[in-house]
Amino acid sequence: MTAASPIVLEQHLNRPPKEPEPTLRGDSVGSDRYTCPDYLKREYRQVWHTVWNIGGVAYQMSEPGDYLTTELGIDSIIMVRQEEGNVKAFFNSCPHRGTRITEAEDGHVQAFSCPYHGWQFDRAGVVTSVPDEEDFAESPCGKARLKEMQCEERFGLIWYNFDPDAPSLDAFLGETISRELESHRIEDMLRVLDMTAETRSNWKIITDNFNEAYHVKVLHPELIPYVAADYGDCQFDCFDNGHNRGWFPSFMPSAQYDSDVIGEPLKSMAAAWGVSSDEYQGRDTWKQLRLDIQSAKRARGVSQGYEHYGYRADYQLTDYVIYNLFPSNVITVGPDGVQLLRARPHPTDAGQCLFDHWWLVNRVEGQDMTPSPAGGPDLPVADAPHEHIRYGEKTLGTTADQDLSIAEMQQKGLASAGYQGFWMPNQERRVQAFHENLNDLMTE
Ligand code: FES
Ligand SMILES: [Fe+2]
Repeated sequence: MTAASPIVLEQHLNRPPKEPEPTLRGDSVGSDRYTCPDYLKREYRQVWHTVWNIGGVAYQMSEPGDYLTTELGIDSIIMVRQEEGNVKAFFNSCPHRGTRITEAEDGHVQAFSCPYHGWQFDRAGVVTSVPDEEDFAESPCGKARLKEMQCEERFGLIWYNFDPDAPSLDAFLGETISRELESHRIEDMLRVLDMTAETRSNWKIITDNFNEAYHVKVLHPELIPYVAADYGDCQFDCFDNGHNRGWFPSFMPSAQYDSDVIGEPLKSMAAAWGVSSDEYQGRDTWKQLRLDIQSAKRARGVSQGYEHYGYRADYQLTDYVIYNLFPSNVITVGPDGVQLLRARPHPTDAGQCLFDHWWLVNRVEGQDMTPSPAGGPDLPVADAPHEHIRYGEKTLGTTADQDLSIAEMQQKGLASAGYQGFWMPNQERRVQAFHENLNDLMTE
């Protein structure tokens, strides 16, 4: 059997194709969804139990018997590589009396063993031996098993879905997003940042934040010199299936940039590709600067060790595209890597969540350090250990820190009797679309 050829987008694409505008109802957004424990509980069943989530990076579990665990709300999920090469995922709850069978984040097993009464499970989750087997009216061996859920390996990531009847991951993502994500070949990347931060905000506050760029010029002014995040330059697309996409042309300043002369860091970013930014004076020239950097990367990228430039569309050489996969897996792709920025619900407290920040990079020959995504010191090009912190203990990257700082303030304001609902401009329509999609699931 020959492997399918990898997807390569049309090389001369200068932006993602525009999707039709969504039809929005204008639902109001109450504060209960951010603060109420009962809402959190219902949402867990009606939303989180129906969607595909990312559980880990596939290369973390390359051999049969390698496993990873992840947590979502009240649940722990075990993902195990099988003899046949596929991955199975199980709820981490023993069929004897419900104990979690492991609290490890990863490992390798011949067989799992529950720490309470010693039931043993094979890698497919089936009970293989129990103490005092003769004492059971019916032996659980070969019959009892860990409850399995759907699991797929795609884009170098492991995905799981609690709902046994849910459509496949490809059907969930839709053709456009599947195709565009596949074109990045995330499976060839290395995760150099893997952080989780306990955060004092509801998970949706973080999701809302990634569903709009209205805040960028205020909260992230350091991006203005090189990311055109103004709504007049970007493109926002909402898909019928609840996901959305934002496109941000980069290697050009944003409309708020207040000089005619290109400054840092763009000056150095251009110089690295042999482009002198001094020749681009005034905002009329900025779009051309971005195009000329694309041409330089196209001409010299592969020979300079940026092999991935050989299979990228023009816009993928310079720009950021953010894929917001409903409800909360946010995948941001840039010229040299991919970030996962997502919030997971807290088991019991609507006012808290877990925020994950991953940074996966393309390997570039000769590079042993790589720039941190949007601020922070350079990172070694090596698989990063997982760090679990409380927000504030350590930086998650400048931009992520800025987003989280406001998340905690917004949580407090939303809980106030003075909260009056949202009053949003058109450029925040992805926030509105998200909440209408959420409402559809919550009223079913
Ligand atoms: S709860 Fe797992 S063996 Fe008893
Ligand atoms: Fe932000």
